[in-house]
Formats: sequence, C-alpha cells, structure tokens
Amino acid sequence: MKVVVLDTEEEVDAYGAQMVLSLLKQKPQAVIGYATGETPLGMYGRLIAAYRQGQVSFHDSYAFNLDEYVGLDSTHPQSFAYAMQEALFSHIDILPDHIYHLDGGAKDIDQALQSYEQQLALHPIDLQILGLGMDGHIAYNEPGSPLDGPCHIVDLHPASIQSSLAYGFERIEDVPKQGMTMGIGTIMKAKQWLMMVKGAKKAGLVKRMLSGEVSSDFPASVIVRHANAWVVLDRAAAKEWEG
Ligand code: PGA
Repeated sequence: MKVVVLDTEEEVDAYGAQMVLSLLKQKPQAVIGYATGETPLGMYGRLIAAYRQGQVSFHDSYAFNLDEYVGLDSTHPQSFAYAMQEALFSHIDILPDHIYHLDGGAKDIDQALQSYEQQLALHPIDLQILGLGMDGHIAYNEPGSPLDGPCHIVDLHPASIQSSLAYGFERIEDVPKQGMTMGIGTIMKAKQWLMMVKGAKKAGLVKRMLSGEVSSDFPASVIVRHANAWVVLDRAAAKEWEG
C-alpha cells in the first residue's frame, strides 16, 4: 500500500486524475472502476478538462460502476448510473456500450448481480477508484459485509442513508433502503486501487482504515491486504493518522 498526503483537496483531485491519465496513455483499452459520491467529482472535472484539451481519449476504455441503489433505474436522477453520466461519461468520448453498471431497476436483482460479476470476470479492472464511507464502507459493502464476497445486495446503514442526502434526495424517506454493490472479493481482483479521502470529518476513519485491525466491522480496513492500493489524502483527512 502506498499513502500519499497532499496539502489540499485540489491536489488530491490532480493526483488522482494523473493516475487515470497515465493508465490510459499506457493502456487505452483499460478497464476502470468508477465511484460516485462527492469525493471524486473534482477529479472527474479534471479528466473532462484533459479530454477537451485533447490530452486523453476514453474511446477504447471500459467503465464499471461500483454500486447502485436498489429500485432506481439508470434514468433516475439519483441513481449512481445517472450520476456517473452527469459527472463524467456524458462529457467524454467513452462508448455507451463500454459502460457497465448494476441495474437498480432490474426485476430480478440476483440475476443482475450475477450477470455483473460475469461481466467483471470478462473485463478485469485495471484501476478501481474508491471512496471511504462514513461507516467505513467501500462501495456499498456496509459493516458486516464479508471481506471476500461477490456482488451482493445490502441493507444500507443509517450513516449511508444520511450521507445520501448530499446526493440530491430531498427527504431522508426518499433514499432507498437497500443497495447493490460489487463485493469486496470482486473489488480485490482489481489490479490497482485508488482510494481518495478528503476532509477532517474522515480523519478518524482514515486512521482506523490504515492502522486499525482488518475486520468486516470496518470494511475499508481490507485495503491493507491489497498489493497495489494507493491511498491519496488531503492533509485534513490524514491528520489523525499522521498524529
Ligand atoms: P463521499 O462518499 O465521496 O460522498 O464522501 C464516499 C462513499 O460513501 O463511498
């Protein structure tokens, strides 16, 4: 694991964007796992700018979204599939049929999870972008999730439901109570991880992730077991870990 601490959020965005740009330069057909949430938005903005300036093409690359709300299909503005379109995909030259997402609107959720796992097996992820949830989740692997599991359905933790209010839901009652997610076992197969964490509110979580015990009570703690995980922090998020 490599931990990079930078002074500002903007530097974290720039660092993450550079990792994606370097990968695409070296491997234009790279498979990238994308995360929603607030943390990567600055980085996505930089990727769009780099594309507009002709510095990168996403044409041959593939995209897999990490997770989704059960019950929201990709046309729902608060679905993660829609959020990724808005944040990145609709602004770059990635081919629509190269974009994979968990289908929150599927009638048969188990079938949707299985078919996603199969697609992932056919397209091994080169770089997985990850955020850190306020309850220690990665993707929607909530506390208690197995550390080696496949794509699965999950009851969202109250902290995750609360955090969802930042994603455009008007009322807490509108937030779906279940999610579907790549499992930790699925994510572990990605060749490289890029976990970005920003802000003082996550400083305690960062400390627990990097120096606490590995436990399904705190799923992000599994990061120390990945051979090629990069953790990119701003100074505020690193504060408690740095001591
Ligand atoms: P955030 O979410 O980037 O909006 O803080 C991270 C997460 O829940 O994984």
